[in-house]
Amino acid sequence: MNTSSLGTALITGASSGIGAVYADRFAKRGHDLILVARNRERLEALATRLAADAGRSVKVIVADLNDKAALARVEQVLRTDASITVLVNNAGIAMSGDLASADPDRLESMIQLNVLAPSLLALAVIPGFVVRGSGTLINISSVLALAPERFNGSYSGTKAYLLNLSLRLQQEVAGNGVRVQVVLPGATRTAIWEKSGTDIATLPPSMLMDVDEMVDAALVGLDRGESVTIPSLPDIADWEAYEAARQNMIPKLSLSFPAARYGITAD
Ligand SMILES: NC(=O)c1ccc[n+]([C@@H]2O[C@H](COP(=O)([O-])OP(=O)(O)OC[C@H]3O[C@@H](n4cnc5c(N)ncnc54)[C@H](OP(=O)(O)O)[C@@H]3O)[C@@H](O)[C@H]2O)c1
Repeated sequence: MNTSSLGTALITGASSGIGAVYADRFAKRGHDLILVARNRERLEALATRLAADAGRSVKVIVADLNDKAALARVEQVLRTDASITVLVNNAGIAMSGDLASADPDRLESMIQLNVLAPSLLALAVIPGFVVRGSGTLINISSVLALAPERFNGSYSGTKAYLLNLSLRLQQEVAGNGVRVQVVLPGATRTAIWEKSGTDIATLPPSMLMDVDEMVDAALVGLDRGESVTIPSLPDIADWEAYEAARQNMIPKLSLSFPAARYGITAD
């Protein structure tokens, strides 16, 4: 049963790290919650705490989003539960190292979880948002979308995918009352590092943000109507200059003739 006038926030990867903090914050804001991840014990412990602390309805869906049938169950909830007003596409894994030494199974799982799952979940929720004229999709990308030289290229590629998807979706839903925010966290103190084979102690502390502060900043960005939120970036003018340079190139990126510098002339 929906008990909140703000509706329900469905958060993937809510059993730890960034997703668990989003769950806490949306409950405190007055949303009911649906928490999705694989670890039932952690999800249920969080659900019990948040239901008691915030007095909200908190359901859990234990689902491996790399399992087609489990993913379909979550998609079905997103398609049919009209109380859902927020989807946080947060579940993700990383991998460190180079492509040449990558474990192919982990590479496949990462691309499925970081790319396919959020795409299908967005596809499941957006049409309902558009019909209802409201709803918020938050996609958790990464600053690595802009800095592939800094980490595993496949991981940063999955995050660039989410950035691209979000930028296009923002255009698609413009004027429908639907929000799409893409969040680009820098290195954030969560278990993802250890799970991906990187000792967090090797990261310069000056580059590492606490997860509560990261999510709180992202939510301020959401409240301010930002479509792209980069919690670490001191001066938003830097992003705006990057965007302006990109926008300037767009009309020139596909023309019927090669650029003069290549010296190719038509027959
Ligand atoms: N931490 C950072 O430095 C950082 C920076 C930029 C972006 N991000 C992004 O932030 C997101 C959250 O990461 P985090 O840092 O909070 O890491 P985390 O603490 O490891 O959390 C990842 C979450 O995803 C869930 N998950 C993993 N595999 C799953 C699967 N197959 N099916 C369903 N759920 C799954 C995990 O839960 P279960 O294990 O219970 O399934 C967990 O709740 C990721 O998309 C990550 O790429 C993180």
